[in-house]
Amino acid sequence: MAKIAEKCPHIDVTVVDINEARIAAWQSDDLPVFEPGLLECVKVALGRNLFFSTAVDEAIAAADVVFISVNTPTKTYGVGAGKASDLKWVEKCARQIARVSTSDKIIVEKSTLPVRTAETIRKIIEGSGNENNMQVLSNPEFLAEGTAMTDLENPDRVLIGGETTPEGTAALNALVDVYANWVPRERILKTTLWSSELSKLTANAFLAQRISSINAISALCEETGADVDEVAFAIGMDSRIGPKFLKASIGFGGSCFQKDILNLVYLCESFGLNEVAAYWEQVITMNDYQKHRFSRRIVKSLFGTVSSKRIAILGFAFKKDTNDTRESSAIYICQDLLTERAEIAIYDPKVPAAQIFRDLGLDAEGKDADGNKLVSICSSAQEACDGAHALAILTEWDAFKEDQLDYSDIYKRMEKPAFAFDGRNLVDLDKLREIGFEASGIGKPRVE
Ligand code: UGA
Repeated sequence: MAKIAEKCPHIDVTVVDINEARIAAWQSDDLPVFEPGLLECVKVALGRNLFFSTAVDEAIAAADVVFISVNTPTKTYGVGAGKASDLKWVEKCARQIARVSTSDKIIVEKSTLPVRTAETIRKIIEGSGNENNMQVLSNPEFLAEGTAMTDLENPDRVLIGGETTPEGTAALNALVDVYANWVPRERILKTTLWSSELSKLTANAFLAQRISSINAISALCEETGADVDEVAFAIGMDSRIGPKFLKASIGFGGSCFQKDILNLVYLCESFGLNEVAAYWEQVITMNDYQKHRFSRRIVKSLFGTVSSKRIAILGFAFKKDTNDTRESSAIYICQDLLTERAEIAIYDPKVPAAQIFRDLGLDAEGKDADGNKLVSICSSAQEACDGAHALAILTEWDAFKEDQLDYSDIYKRMEKPAFAFDGRNLVDLDKLREIGFEASGIGKPRVE
C-alpha cells in the first residue's frame, strides 16, 4: 500500500488495523517489520496520501477499492487441520465490508487464498442484502521478504483476476490503471478469478519444489564428493532450467511456502486427486528431511552427543535482511539440538530475544517447562561462539561472511576441535579449515 501511495499521489490510501500499537508504529521510525527501503517509502507518502488508522468502518465506507490483506494461517483445528487455510479473518472482513458499505466497491483479495475464495467473499456479500455493486478481484502478491521494495518497484508481473461480466471487467481495468502508474502494461496480466488464485499457489509450489529438488541432490553430493553449488551452476546454465532458486540450504522457511503447498495438497485431496496431492506433499517431506539431516549431522560430528556442549547459532531469521522467523528452519534445528540437551547460544542481527524464546516454546526468561535454561541470546557472533564446541550458520546474513567476521578470532574463543557447520554455503570452507576448523557445508565434499 505504501508503494501504491508513493507511485500514485492522486490516490488516497488508508491502511486500517484493529491493533492500535501497530497503527502507531507504522507512523513512527520504528516500523512493525524490518524491510530494507520500506521506511523511506512510507515516509514519502505519509500524511500526503498515505494514512494509518484504527477507524476501520469509516475507512471502508469512504473507499472505492478495499484490499483484504489479513492473515490466512494453516488451520489448527477441525476439518482440514494442519493443511487447509483458516479463512475466518477473511470472512470477518467480507462481513464487515458488507455491513458498513453504502456505495459500490471493488474488493481485492490480497491475502494468499485457496482457490474459489473470491466466490465465498461474493456469496457473503450477496447474502448480506447489501444492494451496492460489489466486485471481487484476486490480486496475489509475489514480492519476497528482504527484497520487497525492489520487487514492488519492478515486478516480473502483476496478476489480477476478475469475473468476465461487464462489471467484473470494469473493476479489473480500474485496478490495472492503478498499477499502470509505474508497471508497464504488458506486465499486468488479466485472468479469471480462479486462474489468478491458483497461479499464486502454483508459483510458490514451483519455487519451493526447486529448493527441495536441489536439497535432495545436496544429500547425494555429500555421499559422492560432488559439490552442489557446481551442480546448481551447471544445470542453471540451461536456459530451460535457469539459475535462480537453486541454492541448497537447511530447507526453506517463511510464512508462505509450506502453508501454500499444504493448501494445494488439501485442495487436491478434496477433489480426490490423491496422486497429485502426494506429489506436492513430497516437497514438504524433503524440506523436513533437510532440516533434521542438518541437526543429525551436528550431533554425529560432535562424537554422537551434544549434551551440555555449547553450540553457537549464527542467524535465526528465515532468510537474510528480515526479522521474520515464521517457519524458520532455525527453529526446528534448535529444537532438535535442545532435545539432545545442547546448550545453545543464538545471535541474529535483527531478531529480538523475546521472539526467539517464543518461537522455541520457552518462557520470557528462556526457560523450558521444566525450568531448564539451555538457550541464551547473545549480542554478537563472537559472544555466541565464546566457549562453544561448534558454530552453525543458519541464516545467510552478509555479516557472517568470512570477509566481515573474523573467524580466526572466533576460532580462538572456541573449544577444540572447533566445528563449523555452514547451513547456507555462505563461507569459504577451505579458509575455515586453514584456520583450524572442522568445517562442513551443505552438499559439499567432506574432508575425511
Ligand atoms: C516467497 C516467494 O519467493 C514470493 O514470490 C512470494 O510472494 C512469497 O513467498 C509469498 O507468498 O508471500 P519469501 O518467503 O518472502 O517469498 O522468501 P523467499 O526468497 O522465497 O525464501 C523462502 C525460503 O527459501 C527462505 O528460507 C530461503 O532461505 C529459502 N531459499 C530460497 C533457499 O533455501 N534456496 C533458494 O535458492 C532460495
